[in-house]
Amino acid sequence: MKVLLIGSGGREHALAWKLAQSPLMTEFYAAPGNPGIAEHATLVAVDVEDHDAVIAFCEEKAIDFIVVGPEAPLVAGVADRLRTAGFAVFGPSAAAAQLEGSKGFTKDICARYDIPTGAYQRFNNAPKAKAYIREQGAPIVVKADGLAAGKGVTVAMTVDEALAAVDDCFEGAFGAAGAEVVVEAYLDGEEASFFCLCDGKHALALATAQDHKRVGEGDTGPNTGGMGAYSPAPVMTPEMVERTMKDIIEPTMRGMADSGFPFSGVFFAGLMITEKGPELIEYNVRFGDPECQVLMMRLKSDLLPMLLATANGTLDQVAAEWSDDPALTVVMASKGYPGSYDKNTPIRHVPDAGKGAKVFHAGTALQDGALVATGGRVLNVTATGKTVGEAQSHAYALLDKVDWENGFCRRDIGWRAVEREKA
Ligand code: AMP
Ligand code: GLY
Repeated sequence: MKVLLIGSGGREHALAWKLAQSPLMTEFYAAPGNPGIAEHATLVAVDVEDHDAVIAFCEEKAIDFIVVGPEAPLVAGVADRLRTAGFAVFGPSAAAAQLEGSKGFTKDICARYDIPTGAYQRFNNAPKAKAYIREQGAPIVVKADGLAAGKGVTVAMTVDEALAAVDDCFEGAFGAAGAEVVVEAYLDGEEASFFCLCDGKHALALATAQDHKRVGEGDTGPNTGGMGAYSPAPVMTPEMVERTMKDIIEPTMRGMADSGFPFSGVFFAGLMITEKGPELIEYNVRFGDPECQVLMMRLKSDLLPMLLATANGTLDQVAAEWSDDPALTVVMASKGYPGSYDKNTPIRHVPDAGKGAKVFHAGTALQDGALVATGGRVLNVTATGKTVGEAQSHAYALLDKVDWENGFCRRDIGWRAVEREKA
């Protein structure tokens, strides 16, 4: 099978590493890819924003299957264009990708299909949003409606903070994403991420993970795309997984189909486990980054037939087998991230990982044959162990062999699970 993977992050390196192990794979391309992905696939310089160019490439190479990693091309409709041109694609239509692209859309689906989530209202002007906030009181959560690179959410502990967040949105701090605002009830509990494949009619639960969104140790400082993750999430007991499937995933799948937007791809449900059980914070319509890295380390089954069955509507015919051993990944980022940082800093050494570990590349590039850091999040040092604590020690031991002066990481990835293991 000839496969094209779209994307260039750590998530796509993990997908590429796993897909390349499939006995079904005959030719493997990635656009634009990165130096890590180049270990497994041929990189092609096709502009993924130019859908005609992507189709022309797939026709020229007679590609059988396209896997789309990030959300931006999905929201832009690349999956629709490729499907119309006759290709099998992993990833939802632009209409179904609204589940990630518009928080208001998702909240309306939740309301219509009785999916547990925080009570909310949508607003297109500041005075009404502010009146609602004053009426509800704090804590309360203010969200820019659209895609804001993970930065459009304010969890306000005071009414004043919430009012200021409303002004930020309508004054353009998040660009077009803030033209509409969702104000929602604060949910108290422990967060977990749940991943589930869906072909429109069938859902296949994958696995759970926990991310570390804040840049600083002890979960302090500004939000990032994620500084590390581990899988599974201990809070997601078999009972919580079953309730998530029954109360959240299945009604979403039916609701999307009934609304005329059947969903085909991966549901990445951000959950808050409250006193009442799992409640939906948000949906993403692609694998998490860096959550995908730990999922791929634990997946024993061949990923390629699973993604193909998702695209072809035959998910009821596949199963996924997982290692019980936890996996943990630590993100190394450029000093200054998530603010501004120097680019093209040299990475002098990336260690060989050996079995049960892997250093995935995110924002790296080759310049005159030398590896440099080009992005905010740059390397994902990933390892497994019999416990999260053991996976953590393996990951940091490997990370300490990386020679990159301008890099930094959090030293406490997995702390919540490690504390639980000690108790
Ligand atoms: P999001 O960009 O939607 O993932 O939100 C970023 C973070 O804000 C989430 O990971 C949560 O930690 C927090 N958050 C979002 N919505 C709520 C809510 N309703 N209650 C409490 N925390 C929330
Ligand atoms: N790690 C969070 C995300 O991928 O959105």
